[in-house]
Amino acid sequence: MPRYSALVPAAGSGARFGAEIPKQYLGLAGRPMLYHTLSVLCECERIEHVWVVLSAGDEWWDAYDWKSLGPKLRVERCGGATRAESVANGLAAAAGVLRQDDWLLVHDAARPCLAPDRLLALCDGLADDPVGGLLAVPVADTLKRADGDRRVSATVPRDGLWQAQTPQMFRYGLLCRALAEHSGVTDEAGAIEAAGYRPRLIVSDTTNFKVTYPADLRLAELVLRGRKS
Ligand code: CTP
Ligand code: MG
Repeated sequence: MPRYSALVPAAGSGARFGAEIPKQYLGLAGRPMLYHTLSVLCECERIEHVWVVLSAGDEWWDAYDWKSLGPKLRVERCGGATRAESVANGLAAAAGVLRQDDWLLVHDAARPCLAPDRLLALCDGLADDPVGGLLAVPVADTLKRADGDRRVSATVPRDGLWQAQTPQMFRYGLLCRALAEHSGVTDEAGAIEAAGYRPRLIVSDTTNFKVTYPADLRLAELVLRGRKS
């Protein structure tokens, strides 16, 4: 039986959001955003361990009570200067626990609205896959390329274009090797692609968006409250 664990990079500063504290600690439906993100992973029966990677100077984690997330959670204060570095440091911290062929799901702290059924679709859809893959949505809008004057220089065909989300699920050993060799990537799939593999896309939905700007947090609140009612 395949074994699954998760790693949540949560060492960013949320510069684009522009709040006084990192966006992952902002209040969302009565909890810090990070709580919702971790809770979906901790509640998933398939997943054995959940690592959360904080920045070394994180002053906020200890202000909250995370006990209700249960015993799967492991906290590492080894975040790096970039997301890829935070993930690589978290992978190193998990070395004593994970086997080379264990599945590892890397999931952004800033995606608090992942639905449990999409998480299962990812685990099940890739369980026998030789490479692994990620949740993603086919691009729905018409795409425009802008010139320097912000005028449209071209309409870009959207056929075959997908928006990448997280979790991104790869074998622990392959992911460690790929990230060590290709550290300048913005997601795990990018490192796997650079290593010569073709990650599989698993259909997600747009509610699993990344909270980047203040309007996204208001939308996340609506999504989560809508699910509870
Ligand atoms: N992240 C991280 N370590 C970093 C940078 C980002 O662990 N050095 C994490 C963030 O905490 C977030 C995820 O990677 O959960 C996705 O990154 P992003 O949405 O870009 O978050 P921030 O980097 O915090 O935001 P910004 O780019 O606006 O500063
Ligand atoms: Mg960032």
